[in-house]
Amino acid sequence: MVNSAYDSLNGRRGQIELKNVGKKYKTNIGEVHALSDINLTIEAGSYVSLIGASGCGKSTMLRVIAGLTPLTAGSVTLDGKEIDGPGSDRGFVFQEHALFPWLTIRQNVAFGLKEARKQNANDEADKWLEITGLTGFGNAFPHQLSGGMCQRACLARSLAMNPAALLLDEPLGALDAFTRMYMQDEILRVWENRKTTMLMVTHDVDEAIYMSDCVVLLSPRPGRIEKTVEIELPRPRDRNDDRFISYRKTILESLHFAGFRREPDFYI
Ligand SMILES: Nc1ncnc2c1ncn2[C@@H]1O[C@H](COP(=O)(O)OP(=O)(O)OP(=O)(O)O)[C@@H](O)[C@H]1O
Ligand SMILES: [Mg+2]
Repeated sequence: MVNSAYDSLNGRRGQIELKNVGKKYKTNIGEVHALSDINLTIEAGSYVSLIGASGCGKSTMLRVIAGLTPLTAGSVTLDGKEIDGPGSDRGFVFQEHALFPWLTIRQNVAFGLKEARKQNANDEADKWLEITGLTGFGNAFPHQLSGGMCQRACLARSLAMNPAALLLDEPLGALDAFTRMYMQDEILRVWENRKTTMLMVTHDVDEAIYMSDCVVLLSPRPGRIEKTVEIELPRPRDRNDDRFISYRKTILESLHFAGFRREPDFYI
């Protein structure tokens, strides 16, 4: 079954639109202005990365889209429908894997499907275990898997719900460099198959260029969009390609990390 928003996007769903989005947190140390005047359209089926200094509001932006944190200004829509809370149309992958330690990998992946009373939840879970290269580990518990394998199980769990959009908060941050590059290809393989809209936070400029159609740079306090860089490179991408290196130069210069010594209070 398809809805009208789905139809209007030529069969694709997952268009996210942020209009004049602002977010202020009230805390015991005063008000924190986390996001200000964010205007951004993420096309259905596209892969967008968010990059910026620590504390500039990247996670807040994902949480706002997930409906986990209320806005204080503006609006966010998914396929034209205003977001006013969490929903199964949006998956969330956290930096540290968030598997239930007392459930097997298959039970973890099937968890949301069972909650949604989906038929054949275990078969569906097994399909996603296969897609994410975890066949044979369905009966294992999370502590018996490596960090990368757990992160793949998290992806499987989110993707099994067939979300229109997947929000990834530094999903590969805890992995070593080689596993990380391997996982980038794994995620891209799933994305190319399903064309789920992906919005990924990363601190890794190469990762953003390698994976994304568009890289959004946020500047801090309050978080604002500094620049969006469309990555017009064919896929699969070559990290050593001259144009790839030129995108890296552009982004690092925009973040003021091209090579001179930074002010000591500035982190990424
Ligand atoms: N639940 C909260 N309550 C109060 N303030 C918060 C909350 N979450 C985030 N903040 C504040 O909002 C600002 C943005 O935080 P956020 O976690 O979105 O940054 P970030 O860009 O994801 O940083 P990092 O790269 O370190 O993960 C920070 O100043 C932070 O202290
Ligand atoms: Mg964060």
